Amino acid sequence: MRLGSSGRAAPVAVVTGAAKGIGFGIAKRLERAGCQVSAWDNNLRPLCGRHRFAHEVDVDVVHADSVACAVERTLADLGRIDVLVNNAGVNGPTVPVWEYPEAEWDRVLAVDLKGVFLCCRAVIPHMREQGSGRIVNVSSVVGKEGNAKAPAYSAAKAGVIGLTKSLAKDLVGEGVLVNCVTPAMVETELLLEMTSDYIDMVRAKIPMGRLCTVEEVADMVAWLAGPECTFCTGAVFDLSGGRATY
Ligand SMILES: NC(=O)c1ccc[n+]([C@@H]2O[C@H](COP(=O)([O-])OP(=O)(O)OC[C@H]3O[C@@H](n4cnc5c(N)ncnc54)[C@H](O)[C@@H]3O)[C@@H](O)[C@H]2O)c1
Repeated sequence: MRLGSSGRAAPVAVVTGAAKGIGFGIAKRLERAGCQVSAWDNNLRPLCGRHRFAHEVDVDVVHADSVACAVERTLADLGRIDVLVNNAGVNGPTVPVWEYPEAEWDRVLAVDLKGVFLCCRAVIPHMREQGSGRIVNVSSVVGKEGNAKAPAYSAAKAGVIGLTKSLAKDLVGEGVLVNCVTPAMVETELLLEMTSDYIDMVRAKIPMGRLCTVEEVADMVAWLAGPECTFCTGAVFDLSGGRATY
């Protein structure tokens, strides 16, 4: 079903971190489903010459003022926000806790967890007022299992799962559903920066024997953001090829 197929104006979907990688795939998928996409990113350059969304906003999700301006601009230009996909994220260094720089801990937690909180906090009053909305947070299988040498990322992504569940409960009965997805490693350009040994090691943990694709994440997010998702909230949707056991 197309998201905008009910005869109403096309739904407006905000996707953070939409300029590249998984966010770009999600934004394109939502566009294909009939949404007007507002692409939020603190570096919109990768979109130049590649694709133009209906709306693009330069925003840093770690700053409340920047997020408030992005909401204001999206509402002024597109009139409403029906979907919020919190996808923007960073990995941080790959070292154990005892070597992890405090500044990097703060940066990863700020983007990956506080950024989700700030975007939700800014958009929700509008969704509550309209009595409808869909929020999809991009967590990671790492938030369930914890990866060695990724303490901040593991903690932040686990935090996103907790935030999703808490927020969903606060919004029950208001027409706003909140869910998250937990992909295993996804095939993106990032793989070009990794050694084949490391990729093989990660792939070996996945019973299906392959990595997740951007399209698989985008399809699941589109369903969670769409009209067919009516009885799921506060839930964690697995995309790990059988790796996660809960
Ligand atoms: N790549 C994977 O294997 C994988 C697996 C599971 C989950 N995830 C999650 O998926 C999401 C997207 O990952 P990706 O691999 O596409 O990453 P990516 O680095 O390709 O894209 C991330 C995007 O977020 C933007 N961004 C970063 N900080 C920002 C900020 N402060 N404000 C606004 N935008 C900001 C970047 O500019 C970039 O466009 C992340 O949350 C990541 O943790 C990725």
